[in-house]
Amino acid sequence: MNVKTHGRAPQRARLCVSNEIIPISGYGRASQRLQKTDHLKILIKNIKQLLQVRDNPVQKVSGADMRSLPLLEDAFLLVEGDRIADYGKMTDLPDTQADEVIDASGRVVLPTWCDSHTHIVYAGNREQEFVDRINGLTYEEIANRGGGILNSAKKLQDTPEDELYEQSAKRLEEVIALGTGAVEIKSGYGLTADAELKMLRVVKKLRAHYGIPVKATFLGAHAIPAAYKSDREGYIDLIINEMIPAVAQEGLAEYVDVFCEKGYFTTEETEAILEAGKAFGLIPKIHVNQFHAIGGVQTGVKYNALSVDHLEVMRDEDIEALKGTETIPVALPSCSYFLSIPYTPARQMIDAGLPLALATDYNPGSTPSGNMNFVVATACIKMKITPEEAINAATINGAYAMGLSDTHGSISRGKKANLIITKEVPGYAYLPYAFGSNHIEQVMINGNIN
Ligand code: NIG
Ligand code: FE
Repeated sequence: MNVKTHGRAPQRARLCVSNEIIPISGYGRASQRLQKTDHLKILIKNIKQLLQVRDNPVQKVSGADMRSLPLLEDAFLLVEGDRIADYGKMTDLPDTQADEVIDASGRVVLPTWCDSHTHIVYAGNREQEFVDRINGLTYEEIANRGGGILNSAKKLQDTPEDELYEQSAKRLEEVIALGTGAVEIKSGYGLTADAELKMLRVVKKLRAHYGIPVKATFLGAHAIPAAYKSDREGYIDLIINEMIPAVAQEGLAEYVDVFCEKGYFTTEETEAILEAGKAFGLIPKIHVNQFHAIGGVQTGVKYNALSVDHLEVMRDEDIEALKGTETIPVALPSCSYFLSIPYTPARQMIDAGLPLALATDYNPGSTPSGNMNFVVATACIKMKITPEEAINAATINGAYAMGLSDTHGSISRGKKANLIITKEVPGYAYLPYAFGSNHIEQVMINGNIN
C-alpha cells in the first residue's frame, strides 16, 4: 500500500505514515496510541470498494434488506481525528488538504467487525477436552464429569486478576488485529461472587486500556457450580441477592445473561434472574436454544432482551416469537463448527423477515477462536447466507446487539473511524470465498492505523 504524507507534516511520528505493519504484540500496551489528541486528517483514496456506506444510518437491517450492502466503487474516505468525516466517489474528491494519504488501490475498505458475543476473559485452555471429544466423548458427557464450564471456573478461580488480565489482553489484541473494532465480553467462568467480580474487573481494565468499545455482561448463571450441586436454589439465590447487587454497585456490567438450557438453567430460573438484573438496570442478552428448544427465545422476548444468542435448534414457533420484536437473534457459526452441532437456520430466519447478527462466542470450551473473518465465511458456506447478508450481520447488526449502532457498524459521517483495509482482492465476495487466507492489510481504530 502506498502511504504518503503531504500538506502539513504530522506533528509527531505516527504509526500510520509508514508501510510498516506494527507487530500486534505492541498493540494497546501503549494505549496512548489509541488516544488521538491531535486532529489529523487522513485521506484514503482509490478504494476499490467501500462497503456498508449509509448516509442515513440505520439501527439494524432485517429480512430482505439484509441482501443489500450499500457500497461505493472507486471511492475516497476522509478521516478527521477519530471520526469518519466524509466519503464519496473519487470523481467527487473535494480539494482537501490531508495530513496523510493512503492509497487503497485494489483494496476493499469496510467498518471493523462488531463481535457482540464473547467470553474472552478466561484462564488457561481446555485442549484436553478437545482431544477427549475427538476420542468419542460428547460436550454434555464432558460437562457431566465436572469438565466444561466447571473446569474453566476452577482454573479461573485459581488465577490472580493480573494474570487473568494478561491472558485476556492477548486475546483482545489478537481479535483487533483480525479486524474486530467493538466487542462484548461475558463473565460466567467465576461462579463465585469474588471470581465473577474479578472477571468483570478485568473487562473494565480492558475497556480502559484499549480504544475499542468493550461491553460487559454478567453471566453468573452460566452453570451450577460444584459447591451448589445439590442446592441449585441456593446458587440462584446467591446470583440474585449477592452477585447482581454487587455487580451493579460497582457498575461492572451493562447486560445480564443466563445459559437457558437443559441441565443448566430452566426458563423459570432464567426469568427470576432476568427480573433481578432488570431491577438493577441490567439489560437481558441471553444464551438460548443451543442444544434444546425449551422456550428460551420466548423468555428473551418477554423480557425485552437486546439479543438471543446461539439458536442452533429452532422451532417454527421460536422464529415466530421473534417477529416484530426489538430482540435480535445472534448466530455463532464457529461454535457449530467446533462442536459439530447444527448451524443456526439463518436462511430460514432471514427469509422470515428477521434481522440476524453474527458473533464469535470466543471461549475455551465451545469456540476457541475469535476470528470474525472465519465467522463471516462459515456463515456463507454453511448457513447459505450471502456475503452481503453476512457482512451486514457482522457489522451493523453486531453493533445493534451491543447498543452501538449510533457510533459503529457502518461507514457514515460522524461515526468512529474503525476500519478494515484489505489486501488487494478481486472484490468483497472474495473475503468469505477464500476463507482460509488473511485478507486484512491494516486495521484502523479511532483514526489510528495499528
Ligand atoms: O456460549 N453455551 C454456553 N457457554 C459457552 C460455552 C461454555 C464452555 O464450554 O466453556 C458458549 O458456547
Ligand atoms: Fe456464549
